Amino acid sequence: MPVLRAGKEQMYMNNADDITNEEFDTKSLYQIGYGLYVLTTRDGDKDNGCIVNTVMQVTSTPPLIAVVVSKQNYTCGLIQKTGKLNINSLSESTPFEVFKHFGYQSGKDTDKFAGYSPERSANGLIILPKHTVGYLSLEVERELDFGTHIQFMCTPVEGKLFRMTIFAPYASTELPILNRFNGGAAISRFKPK
Ligand SMILES: Cc1cc2nc3c(=O)[nH]c(=O)nc-3n(C[C@H](O)[C@H](O)[C@H](O)COP(=O)(O)O)c2cc1C
Repeated sequence: MPVLRAGKEQMYMNNADDITNEEFDTKSLYQIGYGLYVLTTRDGDKDNGCIVNTVMQVTSTPPLIAVVVSKQNYTCGLIQKTGKLNINSLSESTPFEVFKHFGYQSGKDTDKFAGYSPERSANGLIILPKHTVGYLSLEVERELDFGTHIQFMCTPVEGKLFRMTIFAPYASTELPILNRFNGGAAISRFKPK
């Protein structure tokens, strides 16, 4: 059995470069597809949003959605505290600025919604109709602690589809078909700070 030597903080699949060996080519992980979402939360008067790809419908009856968030993210503590979140699924035409704004800075240091007059779902959390396919309002049922990350198992309590369009894909931009997305911007090749 090969020993997989994970990096100190192997947070996302593209950080797995340091565990490539003969048996396991970490690029093989690129075959798993994801969408991209702005996950919105709110604590008191402060709203926050961060980019996530790790969202999955686990069961249909009853509907359960799994969302995985790094403990390093401000978002993680807000979900733990409030038990509420919205996921806003980004469309393929989402400008890179949106990913930069929500995915490359932390709500610990900045107010990402300063100056915005956003729309809200019934739970009071922000929704982003302009760039999204739709949204789901979720309530946390259970948390699973994976050390670096928490997996939140959630029930949808509200949801809307704004338009049927192509989702922003999270996968290797080395795949030719995905190079069309944002002009081939290296969105999914990012390495967290
Ligand atoms: C394309 C992309 C995908 C990401 N996917 C995730 C994810 O699935 N889970 C996660 O916890 N962070 C993910 N991140 C990182 C967070 O968006 C990033 O750390 C953000 O700054 C956290 O903001 P916060 O501290 O305000 O919560 C992703 C970032 C990008 C750019």
